This record gives sequence, structure tokens and C-alpha cells, in this order.
Amino acid sequence: MKQHDTEVEKTEARKTKKKRANTNTLCWMNGNQCPPEDATLSIFDHGVLYGDGIFEGIRFYNRKPLLINDHIERLFASANSIEITIPYTAAELIGAMTDLSEKASFSDGYIRLVVTRGIGPIGLNPIGCGPANVFIIATELTMMPAQAVRDGINTIIATTRRVSSSALDPRIKSLNYLNNILAKQEANKANVDEAILLNDQNNVAEAVAENIFIVHRGKLLTPPCDEGALNGITRKTILALAQESEIAYDIQSIPEATLLAADEVFLTGTGAELIPVRSINETLIPQCPGPIFTKLQRLYADFIQQQS
Ligand SMILES: Cc1ncc(COP(=O)(O)O)c(C=O)c1O
Repeated sequence: MKQHDTEVEKTEARKTKKKRANTNTLCWMNGNQCPPEDATLSIFDHGVLYGDGIFEGIRFYNRKPLLINDHIERLFASANSIEITIPYTAAELIGAMTDLSEKASFSDGYIRLVVTRGIGPIGLNPIGCGPANVFIIATELTMMPAQAVRDGINTIIATTRRVSSSALDPRIKSLNYLNNILAKQEANKANVDEAILLNDQNNVAEAVAENIFIVHRGKLLTPPCDEGALNGITRKTILALAQESEIAYDIQSIPEATLLAADEVFLTGTGAELIPVRSINETLIPQCPGPIFTKLQRLYADFIQQQS
């Protein structure tokens, strides 16, 4: 009896802890808003068993999701690439995300939209799985300490390589992030903020969860997707802002040596926004934050303001 009581107490304590951790988090699952502790998945979902699914990360500013149509377009493209049928329309998903951002207790936040293959037989064959499970989390997010964002972050070049684009199209934003997680663990062990991944050709692909830009010989450069980069929505926005403000840029392969000779390096992502890189493998980048970064950062802040 006593042992049973202790177990009950432990379960209750776990629930209270979970509730407390989730007070600032809203969830939507398969068509309905629900408390975070009720947003659960089966252990037979292939998203859980095999990372068989896709996702998007979207920021909202002033309660308005930024570039939501671009994110929805990429979500449906990812789903298409791996033949997952999303049982909701784009308008329904946009409606659900807009609703969460309007109901949140904070006006700026982050939305995670996830689609899994759904429940299926234990083998990895996707035939017989489904329907897809769809869930949304709206929460607060700070990716990097404010000081790191202001002064620049320290990075390493990870020994973990980006999965080759012929093995897995990097444009599919899938639930398989082990490759990136291994690189992040390397960064943790090296006591730096972030890792940069190269591909098998020793060219720069991207960072753990961000695209990478460098300024080399006066030109802004970022690698093409087939070098192993996600077709980042922030990357696309930065390229458009560079074009508008006549900053010379190119999408081209960046050998490791070119990265190490860059005058400026910075990372972009929905979660990360724009972050200047201060050092790579303990070598300082000459300009951090550099003039091109600073200009683009201001243009990006203006862009967010116009959109929200
Ligand atoms: C691997 C990876 N690269 C790049 C990015 C940046 O993409 P976006 O600007 O669309 O957020 C992300 C963001 O989720 C990512 O996970």
C-alpha cells in the first residue's frame, strides 16, 4: 500500500512539473486545441519509431506569424517529397497557427508545426501507416543569449559531415536531425555556441539549425541547397534584401578554406534570426559584427516590423 502511495505521489509530482513547465505553451493536435499534457502520440507512430515525418518552425511577431505562406508551402513540398498526405488544408493550418499566436500570453513567440507518418505496423514500410498526425506547439523561444547575438558566437567546424544531398534531399525538412544533433554535441564538448557542417566535398553546407552566409572579397556568399543546405526562408529573405539594397551576392560552393578566409560570417534561421559569428575553431573572424551583417540585420528588423 505504502509503495502504491509513493508511486501515485510520483506520478502526480511529474504531472504538476509538466504543467508548470508548460504554462506558457499552447498546443493544437489533430484539429483541436488542447492542454500540452494531453498532446500525446502513440509509440507506434512512425514519427516516433523512425523519425518519419516533417516539420516547420515559424516565428510570430506582434501575434502575427511571419512568412506563414512560405512555411506552409515548404511543409507541403516536404510532405509531397516523402508521400505523406496532410489531412488539413493550408488554410486550416494557417488558421490554427494564427489562432494560437493570437491566444498566446506573449506577443512574440515561436510555432512548431509537425506532421508525422502516423501509426503503422512495427516495420519501417510506410504502407499501412496513417492517417498522418499533425500537431502545433506555440511557445517562447530564446535560441542564444542576447550578448552572444550582439557580440557574435563562437563556433567550430564539426567533424560530423552533413548527409550528402544525394542521400537525402536537404530541402526536405524532415524529423531526422541526428546528423545535426551529433554536430551540436561536438559544439557542446568544445564549449562553443554552434557548429558548422561541411559536406563530403569539404564544402560548407550550413550550421546545426541555421543557414550560413560569408562575406568574401566584398561579396556576400551562401551555399546552394545541393551542397547540403536547407532552402531556408530567412536565407531567401536575406538574399531578397541584399538584392534590393544592391549588396553584391552569389549562391555558390564555399570551400572550407574560403570560409576560413572570410571577412564576415553569419548564420540565419527562423529561430536564430541573424547571428554574427565571432570565431571558428578559435580563430577570430576579422569583422564581427561586420558592416554587411549590420546592414542586413537592420533591413531584416525593418522587414519584420513591416510584416507584423
Ligand atoms: C538544418 C536547418 N538549416 C537551416 C535552417 C534555417 O531555415 P529557416 O530560415 O527556414 O528557418 C533551419 C531552420 O529550421 C534548419 O533546421
